[in-house]
Amino acid sequence: MAMDVLDRLAGHRVVPVVVLDDAEDAASLGRALVDGGLPVAEVTFRTAAAERAIGVLAERGDVLVGAGTVLTPGQVDRAVGAGARFVVSPGLSRAVVERCGEHGVLALPGAVTATEVQAALELGVSTVKFFPAGTSGGPAAIAALAAPFGHVRFVPTGGVGPENLREYLDLPAVAAVGGSWMVPRARVAARDTAGITELVADAVARARD
Ligand code: 3PG
Repeated sequence: MAMDVLDRLAGHRVVPVVVLDDAEDAASLGRALVDGGLPVAEVTFRTAAAERAIGVLAERGDVLVGAGTVLTPGQVDRAVGAGARFVVSPGLSRAVVERCGEHGVLALPGAVTATEVQAALELGVSTVKFFPAGTSGGPAAIAALAAPFGHVRFVPTGGVGPENLREYLDLPAVAAVGGSWMVPRARVAARDTAGITELVADAVARARD
C-alpha cells in the first residue's frame, strides 16, 4: 500500500505543501487542487487545523492526502486516524518512521547528507524528502548523492518553485518535488479557488514539459 502511494506521488511529480489556518478552508482547497489537475496535498501539522483539514480532504476520495511537518509518533497516529496516506517529516526520526511502518503508511523523512541517507536506509526507507533543498546544495547535491546511493529517490522541497522545478525533476533520482508556491497561505485562507487552480495548473504544466 505504501508503495502504491509512492508511485502515485511520483506520477504526479509535484506535492503541494499546505498550511491551513482553518479546516473550513480545506473544501475549497480540495476543489482547486482537483480542478488544477493535481489532486495531492501535504497538510502540515504546523497549525491546529491540520488534522481536521486532512479529514475533509480525505473524505473527498479523489485527493491523495498526506501529513507534513510530522515530528512525533502521536502526530502519526492523529494524521493516519484523520485519513493521511503518507507522512512527511523535515528530518529523520526513527520513532516516526517506525510508527508509520506499524500503520502501513508511507514515511517520507528528511535527509540531505550521506549520513542521513544511510540512516534512512537502515530504517528501510529508500525515498527521502530532500529538505531544505535550496540551501542544502540543490540539484547538484542530489546528483552527487545519487552516485553512491543509486537506488535512493529524493523529493526535494524547500526553495523549489516554478523557475527551478525542472532542474530537479530532470534528475533521474528525483521522484517528485514538493513546495508551497502553488498554494500560498493567504490565498488558501481567502478561499481563492480560481487563483489556486491557476497556480496548480501552471505547476502541472511545468512538471510535464
Ligand atoms: C516544507 O515544509 O516542505 C517547506 O516549508 C516547503 O518549502 P517552500 O515553502 O519553500 O516550498
